[in-house]
Amino acid sequence: MQALFLSSLLLAAAPNSTYTNSTPPSFHPDPSCIFIESWNNTFFCAASSFLSFPGIPVLASTNLRDWDTISHALHRSEQLPALANVTSQTGGIWAATLRFHHDTIYISTTLVFDERNHNDSSRWENVIFSTRNPQDSSSWSEPLHFSYDGYNPSLFWDDNGQTYVVGAHAWAIREGIDIFPIDLATGCGPHIYRKYGYYYLLAAGGGTFLGHMASIARSCSLLRPCESNPANPILANTNTTEYFQAVGHADLFQDKVGNRWSIALAMRVLLETGVAPMSCEAVLYPVTWKRGNGPFWRSGCIEIKSFSYPRRKQRRRAFYGTQKKCFSHESTSVSQCVCAFSLSKNTNSDNTTQITLVLMYYYTGTVTS
Ligand SMILES: *[C@@H]1O[C@H](CO)[C@@H](O)[C@H](O)[C@H]1NC(C)=O
Ligand SMILES: *[C@@H]1O[C@H](CO)[C@@H](O)[C@H](O)[C@H]1NC(C)=O
Ligand SMILES: *[C@@H]1O[C@H](CO)[C@@H](O)[C@H](O)[C@H]1NC(C)=O
Ligand SMILES: *[C@@H]1O[C@H](CO)[C@@H](O)[C@H](O)[C@H]1NC(C)=O
Ligand SMILES: *[C@@H]1O[C@H](CO)[C@@H](O)[C@H](O)[C@H]1NC(C)=O
Repeated sequence: MQALFLSSLLLAAAPNSTYTNSTPPSFHPDPSCIFIESWNNTFFCAASSFLSFPGIPVLASTNLRDWDTISHALHRSEQLPALANVTSQTGGIWAATLRFHHDTIYISTTLVFDERNHNDSSRWENVIFSTRNPQDSSSWSEPLHFSYDGYNPSLFWDDNGQTYVVGAHAWAIREGIDIFPIDLATGCGPHIYRKYGYYYLLAAGGGTFLGHMASIARSCSLLRPCESNPANPILANTNTTEYFQAVGHADLFQDKVGNRWSIALAMRVLLETGVAPMSCEAVLYPVTWKRGNGPFWRSGCIEIKSFSYPRRKQRRRAFYGTQKKCFSHESTSVSQCVCAFSLSKNTNSDNTTQITLVLMYYYTGTVTS
C-alpha cells in the first residue's frame, strides 16, 4: 500500500493527516463525489458499475479516508430492465455523476449498449436517479429518461435555478461537448462548475487507458463556446512511468473548511505488459482554485518558474500558461508521482500581476515525516 503525504493538507476531520490512494479503495471507475455539510458533514461518491447488479454504488465518508458503501442507486431490476440485455463487458452503467441540489442527491448516468455501433443512437440510454435518503437503496427513484446521443451526462444548476445537462456527444455521430436545459420533472459527460464569474468545463479525454487525462475550459457565458486551457491537460500521467496511470475522468468538490478536492479514475498498469490487475480505481488529490486562477491540483507543490504578466494581447494565452511536462522524483523515499501543471496568477498591491508556473506532484511513496 502506498501512503500519500500531504504536507499542506488539512483534512476536514484530521489536520495534517495522511491518506492512502487509491481511495475509496478497490474497483471504483469514473468516481464522482460531493460534500454535503447539512447532511452530517458527509462526503458521498458514486462510480461506474458496468454490468454489475445491484449497480451504481454510493459511498459515504466523513473524513475522506474511511468509506462505507451505503446504498446502490440501481438495485431494482425494474429500474433499468434493459441492463439485463447488455452483452458487452464494457457496456452497462457508465460514469455515474453525483450532484446535490435543494436537499436532493441526483445521479446522472448512461446505460450503454456497447455492443452496438458507435453511430447507432440506440447505443445510449441516458437517465437520472434521485434520492433524499442515500442511506436507503429503496429510496432511489425510478430513472428519469432523457434523450441524448452521448454519455458522461452531468447536471448543473445556474444561479437563476435553471437545470442543465452537460454531456459528451457520441463522437461517431458528431464530436463535441453539449449543454442543454432540462426539466427534472419531465426529463424534457463532462461536468460544469460556476466559479468567479466564469463557467468551467472539466472534461475527460485521451481515451480511457494510458492516454487518459482531464482538461478544462472556461467561458463567461454558459451557452457560448469555451476558451480551452492551452496548458491542458491539467491532470495526466501519459508518457510517464508513474505508479498510477490512466489518471483522468476527474470530478471536483469542496469540504467544510474550503479545501478543494479532486477524485479521478486511475489504474495501476504494469507498463511492460499493459495489464492493470486492479482495473479501475479512484484516486483523491487536493486542489487549489483561487480567484483569477484556474483550478490546479496541489500537493507538495514546487514552484519552478515565475515571470511577469504579459501584454494585453497575450493575456488569453497566458492565463493558463503553455507548458506541460512531467518530472519523476529522485528522492529515495518517494518514488512515484502524478504530475500536472498550471499557472497561478496574482495581482500585487501595485496592480502588477505575476504568474507563477507550478508543478504539482502527488506522491505515492512511503513518506512518514
Ligand atoms: C445525521 O446523523 C444522525 C445521527 O446519526 C442521524 O440520526 C441523522 O439521520 C443524520 N442526518 C442525515 C441528514 O444524514
Ligand atoms: C431484451 O432483449 C429481448 C430480445 O431481443 C427483447 O425481446 C426485450 O424486449 C429486451 N428487453 C429490454 C428491456 O430491452
Ligand atoms: C455506422 O457504423 C458502421 C460500423 O462502423 C458502418 O458499417 C456504417 O456504415 C455506419 N453507418 C453510418 C450511417 O455511418
Ligand atoms: C505522449 O507522447 C506522444 C508521442 O511522443 C505524443 O504524441 C503525445 O502528445 C504525448 N502525450 C502527452 C499527454 O504528453
Ligand atoms: C489599482 O487598481 C485599482 C482599480 O483599477 C485602483 O483603484 C487603484 O488605485 C490601483 N492601485 C494602484 C497602486 O495603482
